[in-house]
Amino acid sequence: MNFNEIRTPAYVIDEKKLRQNLEILARVQHESGAKILLAQKAYSVYQTYPMIAKYLAGATASGLYEAKLAHEEMVAQGQDNLRRIENHVYEPAFEDDEMVELCQICDHIVFNSINQLEHHRPVWEKAVEEGRLSVGLRINPEYSTQEKHEIYDPCSEGSRLGITNANLPENLPEGVEGLHFHTLCEQGFEPLMETFHHVEKEFERFFPDPASSDNSGKIKWINLGGGHHITREDYNVEGLIKFVKDIKEKYGIEVYLEPGEAIALDAGYLITTIMDVVKTPRMPVLILDTSAACHMPDVLEMPYRPPLRGGEEAGELPFTYRLSSRTCLAGDVIGDYSFDHELNTGDRLVFEDMAIYSMVKNNTFNGMSLPDIDILHENGDVEVIKRFSYSDFKERL
Ligand SMILES: Cc1ncc(COP(=O)(O)O)c(C=O)c1O
Repeated sequence: MNFNEIRTPAYVIDEKKLRQNLEILARVQHESGAKILLAQKAYSVYQTYPMIAKYLAGATASGLYEAKLAHEEMVAQGQDNLRRIENHVYEPAFEDDEMVELCQICDHIVFNSINQLEHHRPVWEKAVEEGRLSVGLRINPEYSTQEKHEIYDPCSEGSRLGITNANLPENLPEGVEGLHFHTLCEQGFEPLMETFHHVEKEFERFFPDPASSDNSGKIKWINLGGGHHITREDYNVEGLIKFVKDIKEKYGIEVYLEPGEAIALDAGYLITTIMDVVKTPRMPVLILDTSAACHMPDVLEMPYRPPLRGGEEAGELPFTYRLSSRTCLAGDVIGDYSFDHELNTGDRLVFEDMAIYSMVKNNTFNGMSLPDIDILHENGDVEVIKRFSYSDFKERL
């Protein structure tokens, strides 16, 4: 099947673009010594994990299910490559039975509070003693470098994400080997550097002392979270490489990065067909076989305007339309776009940058069916890897 024969709606993963992103990330790892993990919350097309495992150090999870997915679909693959693939997890609170399983399949577990750390200590401590697990704490640096997306700012006032300095003890709790912070969202290298310098100053007591020969009780690794748009064209990759090298040299610790978006940035599309054109006093409205609310919820939640192939800002080109969906939600609108030609029922549109925070967040509100998941292989062939049906809707209810 080729691109034009795809059944819509469909998410299409662009394998070539995915590989280009992975090559950039692999270079960062190679030249800086950083370990880069896939944050599965952004992208979990596990059928591509074997390819990702060839380039990255592993994956990180937001809880048991994602950790199991990485364990089954990525860690095993790494073993084939004779290279150890790491499996990390962080969650604001873990259930008791989840902790038992996580300790069997994870290399790093990061806790969000001292309460959680101590509550689960009897379980994780055994795995640490056996050398199977490293435990860390997520800190909240209380240092915000973003204004654009308040709901994605873990440093906003009252945030539950990460332990503030005031709530941390003087010394690292027994058994803890690392610190984790995640504060960025779609940002460049400079805010990361700024945040790290703040962390280095405010949390200095946990870092090894470069002048001391005894650094027991200090951190062995730091995880700089996600939100780094490393594969965006204007990202300062050289700056990041030098920055990580400097940290490693100064403190002798392992440095992890766990981007989600950067892995599959611009590496996927959502293809849709126009089902009807409704005349309104404002402008003609296209009813698409996709939905912002169901298939690209970040468009409404973040909110943002997805790039559309051949579509410009309203009014820029001669034909302007409102792009909407076939759900009952009045606000299920993707945006207003203009085109250089008139659009008709049956025409197809291609939304760009749809591999991230799309499939992982979609839903069947209104009984909407879920789009197929396809892969556009590097040789131009399209493979359908997932097709959903009524039972996927019913089974969740
Ligand atoms: C703890 C943590 N790590 C990594 C990520 C991935 O972030 P991004 O996809 O923006 O790179 C997130 C996103 O929310 C996160 O909360």
